Amino acid sequence: MEQPASGVKVKIFYLCSGYKPLLRRRFGMSETELRVSKIKDGTVIDHITPGYALDVVKILGITGKEKGPITLAINVPSKRFKTKDIVKIEGRELNPQEVHKIALLAPHASINIIRDYKVVKKQEVKLPKVIENIIKCVNPACISNSNEPVKARFYVDCEDPLLLKCHYCGYIMEKKDVLQRF
Ligand code: CTP
Ligand code: ZN
Repeated sequence: MEQPASGVKVKIFYLCSGYKPLLRRRFGMSETELRVSKIKDGTVIDHITPGYALDVVKILGITGKEKGPITLAINVPSKRFKTKDIVKIEGRELNPQEVHKIALLAPHASINIIRDYKVVKKQEVKLPKVIENIIKCVNPACISNSNEPVKARFYVDCEDPLLLKCHYCGYIMEKKDVLQRF
């Protein structure tokens, strides 16, 4: 007797019936999970300290009026850390100064440059020992806030928790002071 082509039938059922639980099991996705889309060209800032995605967006001067898609994920599960934030910016690659600004807020972030859907460059952010011209001192009496032609300059005493010491007045700035300056 001829055997029924059961394999074919199952496959057709699988592809056409929209049998979601089977598909989810096949691709390792749970009922409650929705993956954020990959981007084509641009930057993915991954492993941002949870709760800082909105600040990262702010320091990058993103207003929401940009043309390309911008995706934010806040407090999502992370393999490396317990939770993380992610910012995906289509059509923009960050410059070194912008990467340093992100390092001030998110010292464990990684910057992924995406071209044609592929990660072509992955960089862990790293603060230099001396920070110049990225941020201003919070001390109003500091000479760097006067009309004197001096460049703002800080020494990174600690990366996490952030402690920046002003070269001119010795004021120690913390992350909350830095956020106030952006
Ligand atoms: N990504 C994206 N669009 C692409 C390629 C990658 O949005 N076209 C995102 C991924 O979703 C991930 C990040 O960019 O959040 C880095 O991608 P990848 O290196 O492939 O992921 P991992 O190996 O998990 O990275 P890591 O080892 O840094 O954790
Ligand atoms: Zn100062």
